[in-house]
Amino acid sequence: MKTYEDLATDGGSNIIGQVVTQREKLRGRLDQIKHKIALLSGKGGVGKSSLTANVAACLALQGHKVGILDADLNGPSIAKLLGVPNEEKLKVEADGVHPGEGALGIRIMSMDMLLPTADAPVMWTEGKEATAVWVSTMECTALRELLADTIWGELDYLLIDMPPGSDRMDNIRDLVPELAGVVEITIPSNMSQHIVTKSITKNSNLGVPIIGLVENMATYVCPHCNEEGDLFQGEDTKALAEKKGIKFLGSIPFDTRISGNTRSGKMFFAEHQESPTGKAISGVVDKILEFIESNSK
Ligand SMILES: Nc1ncnc2c1ncn2[C@@H]1O[C@H](COP(=O)(O)OP(=O)(O)OP(=O)(O)O)[C@@H](O)[C@H]1O
Ligand SMILES: [Mg+2]
Repeated sequence: MKTYEDLATDGGSNIIGQVVTQREKLRGRLDQIKHKIALLSGKGGVGKSSLTANVAACLALQGHKVGILDADLNGPSIAKLLGVPNEEKLKVEADGVHPGEGALGIRIMSMDMLLPTADAPVMWTEGKEATAVWVSTMECTALRELLADTIWGELDYLLIDMPPGSDRMDNIRDLVPELAGVVEITIPSNMSQHIVTKSITKNSNLGVPIIGLVENMATYVCPHCNEEGDLFQGEDTKALAEKKGIKFLGSIPFDTRISGNTRSGKMFFAEHQESPTGKAISGVVDKILEFIESNSK
């Protein structure tokens, strides 16, 4: 009778062999990365990508080697945020693809870098106007390939920028079972809090460690009178974290300069560390690092 090992090297289509090889390749890449952290929300447009980019900048400025996987396959934004132009050609080797080098030396891999032009959308099926057809139609396969085929090298942190949707962690949990944890992000609106609550519940049920909850776009300082006011109406986000039994990681004020810098790829955090928003991002990073440290003992 054939054993599992025989099947892996058996002739014919050798599907099991391919799966084993792929799994080993993925493992080989991930073993070189100390800590993997996903940033998510469930809700769209709350600042997941902006915070991923700026948390990465903060870690990089502390001297850590940092990479970002843009897991938002259909709405990728990390390449743009870190100033890696679509035209920059990926360096391909027999073993894989080199990640793009973004601001502050942050290594990135994003679907955006695989599309033929900056305005091309991702197409999952070959149609009349297909601009990019992935070898597989499965998003999970695409994520596995982005993780396993990228020559990440040694990293201290790999941040994973998640797409909106509270069902998105299943794939990542399966591909990266040693994930250090997830950072949940909300804005202080009732709607966002309603949806992030589902995401927290979902991740607790999956057994994914939750590092904590961040409140983004918490307040806005009027540039004319310097008065600080609320941008949204909702329940107290700190109380929400307590209710769900997770840590509150901090409130990040609204700062229009975060969106401005995406054009140049200059990192907001690198340029405005001393602003209230910059300091708040530092505070969130401190809490993430505390979590990592206390969980890796
Ligand atoms: N603290 C902030 N102050 C000002 N603008 C912000 C802040 N955080 C995010 N933004 C802006 O809000 C918009 C949405 O942010 P971003 O794209 O990071 O959200 P997202 O959650 O990743 O969205 P999606 O669900 O589409 O992936 C962007 O224009 C971004 O520049
Ligand atoms: Mg995003």
